[in-house]
Amino acid sequence: MQTHSDPHSPEPTKAPSIAGPPSHTEIERRREQRQREVVPEGLSRRQWKKQLKQQQWEETKDEYRASMREKKKLQRARKRERMQSDQEYRDQLPKIPKTQTPTHVKVIIDCEFDDLMTLKEVISMSNQIRSSYSTMRHCQYNIPIQVVSFNKRLKERYDTVLSDHKAWKGIDFTSESLAEMITSENKDQFVYLTADTEEEVHELVPSQTYIIGGIVDKNRHKNLCVEKARSLGLKVARLPIGKYIKINSREVLVTSHVYEICCRWFETRDWGAAFNKVLPPRKIVKNTEGEDRDVEQGKVPEEEGNSEKDP
Ligand SMILES: C[S@@+](CC[C@H](N)C(=O)[O-])C[C@H]1O[C@@H](n2cnc3c(N)ncnc32)[C@H](O)[C@@H]1O
Repeated sequence: MQTHSDPHSPEPTKAPSIAGPPSHTEIERRREQRQREVVPEGLSRRQWKKQLKQQQWEETKDEYRASMREKKKLQRARKRERMQSDQEYRDQLPKIPKTQTPTHVKVIIDCEFDDLMTLKEVISMSNQIRSSYSTMRHCQYNIPIQVVSFNKRLKERYDTVLSDHKAWKGIDFTSESLAEMITSENKDQFVYLTADTEEEVHELVPSQTYIIGGIVDKNRHKNLCVEKARSLGLKVARLPIGKYIKINSREVLVTSHVYEICCRWFETRDWGAAFNKVLPPRKIVKNTEGEDRDVEQGKVPEEEGNSEKDP
């Protein structure tokens, strides 16, 4: 490896973007390019490549973001246009029901974990809350949401970027924390939903409040919510995923999917149907009889790559 620094070092070869083995000429070209590359002193080849990639991102990110903004603007304009001119399209859009059947079940999204998320994850969480709100409004059943510990970066984002949330109906945002809300008298009415328990939910029971952790952590903080629930003396339960579908990773779902599954359960009274309606069939596992099996945790609406993958 050559090791003197040279500001004019060539860029490392990019990975091929199309499938299929590279041709002989391509292999030759890459070998020659690699021989010409001069890795700066004190850096490994990997570190150098990482640095170059970062530098390239810094140079192009404004342009990239501007083009994404433009793309979204065009998408919105196309949608507006279709809404005006295409009756069929309008008819197939989900409608907000005029009345909703009461369930006497409530959901709390516990946002006390702001400090444990990166900014990107906070943004993802804010999108998930918005998506849950949309699910709530379109559901035939009434399952009100309360967002608690709403007092840090998430609130800041809502106050600046999503300020229309103040007019949202059926969702309550409060800075109060679970610890402030729970007493020895009322604690039996709460169930903290978590993947990290053997206890399973069989049905959603009227007069119970189900708590969903408002965190995107890509499983960095396993047992976080179960431990919190236990410290507050709350019951815990997981969704009965394994009984109904097969997912090929740990069964940790994103917050908005958990809320939507609760809504779909009321609509179908069938966990299997609820899971299949909500979890995206991105990784359908075929079982031995060739029947379609389902999925691993998927994409959060409007927040690509936000699935809670195993680390
Ligand atoms: C992305 S997960 C957070 C994972 C986090 N490490 C934890 O300790 O819960 C978001 C929330 O969705 C709920 N959740 C995810 N998978 C679940 C499952 N299989 N059963 C019940 N709740 C689940 C939990 O409330 C969880 O806090």
